[in-house]
Amino acid sequence: MKPLFLGFGNAAKIILEELEDLISDFYYYDEKKITNGSGTMLEEFYIPDDSDMVIECASVGAVRKYYREILSSNKDFYILSTGAFADEDFRRDFNNILEKSQSNVFLPSGAIGGVDVIYAIKKYIDKVFLRTYKPPISFGRNDKEKTLIFSGNAIEAIKRFPRNTNVSVTLSFAVGSFEKVFVEIYSDPNVKRNIHKIEINSSVGNYIFSFDNIQSPNPRTSMLAPLSLASLIRKRFEKVKIGG
Ligand SMILES: NC(=O)c1ccc[n+]([C@@H]2O[C@H](COP(=O)([O-])OP(=O)(O)OC[C@H]3O[C@@H](n4cnc5c(N)ncnc54)[C@H](O)[C@@H]3O)[C@@H](O)[C@H]2O)c1
Repeated sequence: MKPLFLGFGNAAKIILEELEDLISDFYYYDEKKITNGSGTMLEEFYIPDDSDMVIECASVGAVRKYYREILSSNKDFYILSTGAFADEDFRRDFNNILEKSQSNVFLPSGAIGGVDVIYAIKKYIDKVFLRTYKPPISFGRNDKEKTLIFSGNAIEAIKRFPRNTNVSVTLSFAVGSFEKVFVEIYSDPNVKRNIHKIEINSSVGNYIFSFDNIQSPNPRTSMLAPLSLASLIRKRFEKVKIGG
């Protein structure tokens, strides 16, 4: 296959490496004009006719800038910066254009998991709890003990802590509502990395997931995030599909 990467930083390179047996050639566009010796760099953003799909690994801003062009090309669209969907007007316009497009849109589970469980049982769920623990320095704080610094629903969390947005949006999409995702954010001197704990209480079962992610070469992105997008693409080529 021959994808177009929108954004060619850390995540794109991890995905490229993960899918090297499937990717025969590729295009990429990055506003920093990054090159790596292989593939074809685009000087300006456009969607080559012979590209098979667009893989966004850039930023929320890039999704919002290019979604119209991508959906109008009818190419399948993989989006890592799911935080783009935090904005209601954007969601509305995106869905309107998508209705007239042949594109399929794929949102990976990213830095978390359990999305398959949540999606499978969403009509039995009242609330999903997302508890995020980060070292105080991440918030520019100096707490000596674990301190709850935010609690509220995903919409409020996104407004107050935009750097947590991807995870809140992915969970909200899985459960089908931003109001059903209740977020607590802790400044915690006992943790070294960002930890996400997800708790689901439902009439078909109770579930707790904990994600203690190792960072990728870009410390703001966990290794799990690009690996989850790569696995979503790989799944399409496999005869046996694992997971919900
Ligand atoms: N879904 C999740 O849970 C999750 C988790 C981690 C990261 N992410 C997303 O993945 C994105 C990529 O992560 P990364 O580690 O590769 O970041 P990175 O900074 O290493 O690479 C991003 C690249 O995209 C380019 N870029 C940014 N905006 C652009 C635009 N408008 N047009 C063209 N190029 C643009 C940058 O120049 C950079 O080279 C992050 O911005 C984040 O939104 C999602």
